[in-house]
Amino acid sequence: MSRTPLIAGNWKMYKTIPEALALVKALLPHLPKDREVAVAPPFTALYSVASCIKGTALKLAAQNVFWEREGAYTGEISPLMLKDVGCEYVIIGHSERRQYFGEVDKTVTKKVNSVLEEGLKPILCVGERLEEREKGETFEIVKKQLIGGLGNIQEIQKIVIAYEPVWAIGTGKTASPAQAQEVHKYLRHLVEEKWGRENSEKIRILYGGSVKPENIDELMQEEDIDGALVGGASLKAETFVKIMNYGV
Ligand code: G3H
Repeated sequence: MSRTPLIAGNWKMYKTIPEALALVKALLPHLPKDREVAVAPPFTALYSVASCIKGTALKLAAQNVFWEREGAYTGEISPLMLKDVGCEYVIIGHSERRQYFGEVDKTVTKKVNSVLEEGLKPILCVGERLEEREKGETFEIVKKQLIGGLGNIQEIQKIVIAYEPVWAIGTGKTASPAQAQEVHKYLRHLVEEKWGRENSEKIRILYGGSVKPENIDELMQEEDIDGALVGGASLKAETFVKIMNYGV
């Protein structure tokens, strides 16, 4: 089963509007043809970046969302608003949201459902912390996050999963291709158990955690790794261009 790879850059809380525009302008001439590339700027730069990439193959993603369509929820951004600004993808359940902002599987499910209702595609993040890996709980944790986060959704074909071991995020410590592949294979198996073989073969599972130009090639050679969710290395055109053009 061939799956179109997706390379997504999560800019986290970096980039003013002029910096964001400079970065996307530097990426645009280097977009690969046989794979999807997306960027997730901070909310404040979404509109400017959307205007700049209009008509190009670069996709826009948001880093978070609230689950209501509209209402008196000071400080929140709805799926409707993300669609309105031109997003196609929404990152949900990133470990930094879980760690610092109280995100739990129950709120992840609400977000996944509301994003799907608006016709957007969730990128659901799962991943174990170091102590959980050391205690041998990796599979249990990612299963809880995947099944707990997706609930009983029907539109599984619109979901992208991102496996991000927390101990590898921003630490320079990447999971080895074999370690990542083992978990990706397990996640695909979980999808097969609940949503059937065809869906499990189609779903894309990205790896995230200290992805850089030096390790993307070997990660992408693994059978169940269908792309990457890149943090730090997506903040510079030089490194992100190399990552999105892996294998070339
Ligand atoms: O969303 C991206 C991940 O948190 C990975 O971040 O590439 O800086 O380790 P990183």
